[in-house]
Amino acid sequence: MPKILVTRRTFSEAAEALRASGAEVVIWDGEDAPSHQDLIDAVADVDGLYAHITNQVNDEVMDAAPNLKVISEFGVGYDNIDVNAANERGIAVCNTPGILSESTADEAFALLASMARRTYGLPAMVKRGEWGDFDPLGLLASDIHHKTLGIVGMGNIGSEMAKRAAGFNMNVLYYNRNRRDEEFGATYVDSLEEILERSDFVSLHNPLTPETTNMMSIDQFKLMKKSAILINTTRGPVVDQDALYEALVAGEIAGAALDVTVPEPIPADHPLLTLDNCLIMPHVASATYDTRMKMAMMCVENVLAGIAGDWPPYCVNETYISCTARLKA
Ligand code: DGY
Repeated sequence: MPKILVTRRTFSEAAEALRASGAEVVIWDGEDAPSHQDLIDAVADVDGLYAHITNQVNDEVMDAAPNLKVISEFGVGYDNIDVNAANERGIAVCNTPGILSESTADEAFALLASMARRTYGLPAMVKRGEWGDFDPLGLLASDIHHKTLGIVGMGNIGSEMAKRAAGFNMNVLYYNRNRRDEEFGATYVDSLEEILERSDFVSLHNPLTPETTNMMSIDQFKLMKKSAILINTTRGPVVDQDALYEALVAGEIAGAALDVTVPEPIPADHPLLTLDNCLIMPHVASATYDTRMKMAMMCVENVLAGIAGDWPPYCVNETYISCTARLKA
């Protein structure tokens, strides 16, 4: 009987679908994610791994799992999985693309609006009893309409962000490795530098790779408008947080809203948390009931296909041949 390990709690519907396949299903029931060593110990006889961002699935984990055929990530980003190591071992790696794009863009746009119109910050001032007399020059916010949004990374989520911005009458620029045919009213610019210089809001939607690690650092913040706001809903390491702190304190940029940080969770005494112009959310862009349910069921589809020896529907490996050979073995 094949065995599947699910590394965090999941929806009962997903657990039932996994069990209905006849596989033995083990669901990690700890309050916290398994430690790296816990994961290594738990995968010894596992055929399918239903994984989460909370664990690095590297060569050590794969070496400890000689039967492993498929790693099914709960999420679109799979930077926690060493895909090269999986390729070398013929292990399929899968993710959950598409279905979380709209929820993620909803949150990114909500962060943009909250920073622009100060719905972040001002309610706390009201609660403190600090709402003074009406002041024509006080508490001024930034418009959203007719401002320029720069989208870095025009994949599914970036495109959804462009659609939302169009509804708010924003001018939208995008920078992407490849120019997209369908631009959703957005104008392509051919350098990160240009998009940073021209945008009032910069929203990051590119994946985390070695090339995009610390993509936003001192030099990039200096290029941005002093009134600009940075939105990051992709992965924490894309932003150099020390440089961001300096930029926010020095007024190089006006504000930042982050759904993702380094590390996660961010420690309560982190310097960024002392700043009024930095809003931090606990990595929840895809966290709606409907979207998380769809992600779970997509993960199930991927892992069941993988353990059955079929090519999983949402597979990201580059080396199809070796994985297919392994899946069929
Ligand atoms: C994703 O889908 O990549 C989310 O950030 C959860 O990991």
